[in-house]
Amino acid sequence: IGAGAVGGVVGAVPDTGTGADGGAGTGAVAVAHPNIALIKYWGKRDEHLVLPRTDSLSMTLDIFPTTTRVRLAPEAGRDVVVLGGRPAEGEALRRIVTFLDLVRHSARVPHRAVVESHNTVPTGAGLASSASGFAALAVAAARAYGLSLTATGLSRLARRGSGSASRSVFGGFAVWHAGRPGQDTKAADLGSYAEPVPVADLDPALVVAVVDAGPKAVSSRAAMRRTVDTSPLYEPWAASSRDDLTQMRAALLRGDLQVVGEIAERNALGMHATMLAARPAVRYLAPATLTVLDAVAQLRRDGVGAWATMDAGPNVKVLCRRLEADRVAAAVREAAAGGAVHIAGPGPGARLLPEGGR
Ligand code: ADP
Ligand code: DP6
Ligand code: CO
Repeated sequence: IGAGAVGGVVGAVPDTGTGADGGAGTGAVAVAHPNIALIKYWGKRDEHLVLPRTDSLSMTLDIFPTTTRVRLAPEAGRDVVVLGGRPAEGEALRRIVTFLDLVRHSARVPHRAVVESHNTVPTGAGLASSASGFAALAVAAARAYGLSLTATGLSRLARRGSGSASRSVFGGFAVWHAGRPGQDTKAADLGSYAEPVPVADLDPALVVAVVDAGPKAVSSRAAMRRTVDTSPLYEPWAASSRDDLTQMRAALLRGDLQVVGEIAERNALGMHATMLAARPAVRYLAPATLTVLDAVAQLRRDGVGAWATMDAGPNVKVLCRRLEADRVAAAVREAAAGGAVHIAGPGPGARLLPEGGR
């Protein structure tokens, strides 16, 4: 039993000391990959600190990297943010400026910044762009502002941008600890971070079926808030999710991909049940989603280990063995009716690029 092929990339983000090249006018570039939760994060207990109600567990992917550059702009009166070549506005801009305010406060450096970020994953489509996006931003901004953080510190920082980003700081499989409820603010903040999960050799793949790359109508943030506030199914799911996590950790340790897959699928379907029962309902699952789920069920009847999970969007990720991923991808491609299908393995944690980037 090891930490997994890339689960051990804990130190991917080295503790480099304060601003090696720090000070005004400097910059940094970081890369991070999306992660897909097998035990979902759905529901906050603290909106401001982004503290979740339950622990969650994910696999960071080796596809769809986000690259983010942060440069300090000491003369500027406001932050300039460019996402995918276009100036960010509205909620996307507000989230990034709020995040930079937190970094500025921690670093005691007042300067505004120029942020340029490029996602290769569709943004806002339920493919975890907020995870790769804020993990990359956390790593780049921490360096640009001269904040010296451990991997745990970076995970806590990334969490403040988007909860799922706490897990993309790490490669391979990671668990995000909710931390103990009812503590004072400082203790609660310190207690909620991600870390690598020990796994046996699973040789897993996630086949990603992009049935709709467009942005969701309701953000993950708004949807989970409404679910917690109004869904009668929320508490039962949260309670069952705690058991799911315990059982999944054991299955990961003994390398039992079948049990990992079965738990992942039921945990995701349960999460969607909670939002379908919200008032008004939140429904991300589309007809094409269900067609892919039928194909996954057929694969299982044909003796192929394949289990589906869906996030806040219609796209489907199918967990399977790497050796069977081509077969799974072919079946899913047929069902996905023209949608792109990608095969992902466990990927690396967030990291700085060498000076100059790229
Ligand atoms: P997703 O399923 O893609 O994670 P979310 O609703 O969780 O969707 O989050 C989408 C939001 O995440 C975007 O509207 C934007 O505010 C933020 N986001 C996405 N990519 C980036 C990025 N590269 N840098 C900063 N913020 C990002
Ligand atoms: C369904 O991390 O995107 O993908 O913390 O409000 O930014 P915020 O939400 P986000 O929620 C992810 C929800 C999910 C499940 C998961 O990734 O665990
Ligand atoms: Co997200």
